[in-house]
Amino acid sequence: MRFDVVSAAPEVFSGWRTTSMLGRGQSAEAITIEVHDLRGYGIDRYGTIDDSPYGGGAGMLLKPEPLAAAIETAQGGDPAVPVVLMTPQGERFCQGIARELADLPRLVLVCGRYEGIDERVREHLVTRELSIGDYVLTGGELAAMVVVEAVARLVPGVLGDLESVADESHSEPLLEYPHYTRPAEFRGERVPEVLLAGHHERVRLWRRQEQLRRTLERRPDLAAHWRLSDEDRRLLARIL
Ligand code: ADE
Repeated sequence: MRFDVVSAAPEVFSGWRTTSMLGRGQSAEAITIEVHDLRGYGIDRYGTIDDSPYGGGAGMLLKPEPLAAAIETAQGGDPAVPVVLMTPQGERFCQGIARELADLPRLVLVCGRYEGIDERVREHLVTRELSIGDYVLTGGELAAMVVVEAVARLVPGVLGDLESVADESHSEPLLEYPHYTRPAEFRGERVPEVLLAGHHERVRLWRRQEQLRRTLERRPDLAAHWRLSDEDRRLLARIL
């Protein structure tokens, strides 16, 4: 999968893009991440990319011509490539949207800046608007990174082992069970005996039970989406 990010602050992405999972994913040629510098599309000899809003008011808007040109370049000349604008006004990003996006061959992510972008670019070029939460960041860069990370790790070949994706929080509406590693005792606290005994079936049941418990305690809203097996019902009865 190919990600093309349009940003007026491309330097923000440099270390992030080539480190850890994303670096490995690119080396394995499972993903490509390109960052397009919006400042390279400025309209005059000063490279202007922003302007004050018609009708007055505080702040600056990204001008339509440079932004449209950058987006079209990022699409590689194919207007069918989806364009996601990162904005606090967007639909709330979640694991389900990450899974949808991971099925695409290409995706353009536009980082909003200043007070926003010219409405005509939004109407004509943006296909989806995403927010990473109900708070306001100065620009969409961090939000775009969140989306790329969450999507890239679902692309086959990015993570070593596909199990770890299938298994984890939010692929089911359940939080993860608690994890422990050596030593068996730390500051007077022992690892639960069931994990030390090495009985695989008991470990599995204990983990499932702790997932149900955690989710009920921390995210009861997720319980509305549960589809419980008979085994889950028995474990729940124990907890309650
Ligand atoms: N840009 C600024 N704040 C944002 C948010 N919460 N989500 C996505 N993009 C943003």
